Amino acid sequence: MEKVIQHIDDNFNNYLEEFKEYISIPSISTFEENKKDMISCAKYVADKLKSAGMENTKIIKTDGHPLVYGEWLGAPGKPTVLIYGHYDVQPVDPIEEWKTPPFEATIKNGQIYARGANDNKGQNFVHIKSVEAYHKINGTLPCNIKFLIEGEEEIGSSNLGKFLKQNQKLLKCDAVMISDTSLFAAGVPTISYGLRGLCYMEIEIIGPKQDLHSGSFGGAVANPINELAKLIAKLQDKNGKITIPNFYKDVQKMTKKEKINMNNLKFSDAKFAKELSVKELQGEKGFSTLERLWIRPTLDCNGIIGGFTGKGAKTVLPARASAKISMRLVPNQDPKTIAKEFAKYVKSLVPKSVKINVTELHGGLPFIAPLEDKAIEAAAIAASKAFKKKAVFTREGGSIPIVVEFNKQLNAPVILMGLGLDTDNIHSPNEHFSVNSFKAGIKASAYFLEEFSNA
Ligand code: BES
Ligand code: MN
Repeated sequence: MEKVIQHIDDNFNNYLEEFKEYISIPSISTFEENKKDMISCAKYVADKLKSAGMENTKIIKTDGHPLVYGEWLGAPGKPTVLIYGHYDVQPVDPIEEWKTPPFEATIKNGQIYARGANDNKGQNFVHIKSVEAYHKINGTLPCNIKFLIEGEEEIGSSNLGKFLKQNQKLLKCDAVMISDTSLFAAGVPTISYGLRGLCYMEIEIIGPKQDLHSGSFGGAVANPINELAKLIAKLQDKNGKITIPNFYKDVQKMTKKEKINMNNLKFSDAKFAKELSVKELQGEKGFSTLERLWIRPTLDCNGIIGGFTGKGAKTVLPARASAKISMRLVPNQDPKTIAKEFAKYVKSLVPKSVKINVTELHGGLPFIAPLEDKAIEAAAIAASKAFKKKAVFTREGGSIPIVVEFNKQLNAPVILMGLGLDTDNIHSPNEHFSVNSFKAGIKASAYFLEEFSNA
């Protein structure tokens, strides 16, 4: 193993160079105009898997963007790990807020700046390089490996969902390894055992048949933006509780063991607030910040559309207004049930003077893994070795809906060995990823292969 670690250190600068090419492909899954880039990016990944020693590598067409698969099954009798990641990235807007070009990896102050540097190119590249290093040094691998890197995570993974159902044999494994979450703090190796789910809704309030003069009509006709604002305000009470009937019905309480673990993490509200430039934190009464982020469901308005938003002033009573509202869910809430309750409730809240349309945009189930699992323990040992510090266990506020599908369809434990930081600006301008995490991540992945092979 020392030789592998040495090899990673010796070749790290080359890895960074290679990574720049991965970053340079603008693989934005949500835009039609990037379809070609998605194909180039899938080819790039397939080539890298080949040079890492993977066999049977293939680019698998789907109804959307292609999947990339590769395997090495030369260790009969040893366990198999399926390494999952995604090569697609989020759009870069607002582009004017980027200090360096989003598709040019720029290394500054120990950080790699680029779209996808963290989410998720950086975090899946780590595993490709660890496997390559191990394979180069030993001519073999300690356990069986399957890679599955998709191009639609940022748009819901629906084609991967279908693929999983139809390819259980191809993907059969003893554990799924995913690096697409965060470290608890810089330099602290972290294994996450929970993810929140998601229910994403859009509501539209419709008033008069067209925009009206706000002087001739204002005061006598309902204003859809005013009604929308009132409605949104009613969705939470003064204690930060969500008012949708039955919303909390299926919320699982955390165990005593979890509570102890959470308290031991020594999270600082003051530091957190300072990092975000907010004077004070806010949330559901009676819960700590970590509880609000990890074990409690939430409701947030993501965007409001309506009326006159240009420069200057225009006196207008708009004909319609809409809002995008997401709810982060926790075990055992079900996004379908929540969507129904939400729709019924918001419809009951609007006055007769306006119409309302409610649409479910997408959703995903929450996830929780048992802490007592051989594969998860192997990952914790591996991460501790690489970061030279004891690994901590966390839950996550974010969502990776496909995780539950892996768990169910493949009947395998899922390991979330994230390497990013919540402050890395994923989905936002100036996304970055720490060079140190990048290097430690490659080592953690290499140690994992060995730990897992003996688990
Ligand atoms: N890597 C993130 C998930 C994530 C974010 C985990 C922050 C932990 C902390 C992933 O790529 C993502 O953005 N997921 C979406 C899923 C959604 C589109 C269904 C999310 O959480 O918003
Ligand atoms: Mn993402």
